[in-house]
Amino acid sequence: MNNNLEQTIISIIDKKYPLVTNLSNVSSILKTNFPNTSWAGFYLVEKDKLFLGPFQGDVACSVIEKGKGVCGTSFNTQKTIIVDNVLEFSGHIACSSTSRSEIVTPIIKNNKVVAIIDLDSNLYNNYTKNDKIQLEKISKILSSLF
Ligand code: SME
Repeated sequence: MNNNLEQTIISIIDKKYPLVTNLSNVSSILKTNFPNTSWAGFYLVEKDKLFLGPFQGDVACSVIEKGKGVCGTSFNTQKTIIVDNVLEFSGHIACSSTSRSEIVTPIIKNNKVVAIIDLDSNLYNNYTKNDKIQLEKISKILSSLF
């Protein structure tokens, strides 16, 4: 596990900066540090829906309804979801036709989901339990920004 990654994120974010500024840099850090990641970014909760936030990668869906796709399911259940093969996830929202696996972690503040972290890969089975542990630590760090 890469403990430096958490330290890098802590050192670059600043609660005094706008949320978009902080999350933009974090999306770049995530894409660079999680191997084989083709898309890394955030969906932000507004009016009980997920709206696209800062990201690195190809154009993505602007809005995701609660309960829809991997992101909307994680929003609903407040749990991290690892999808080893997106082609087998019923209801998966394909922003990119080349995406094959995905990990989604909610950012929770005062028991409510305020945002979603989404990483996509063009490889099957790209994300592990260790990635889940690490992304959940990052999610806790980022919840301080909301
Ligand atoms: N695949 C996601 C949608 C977001 S994009 O992958 C960036 C989902 O099923 O929720």
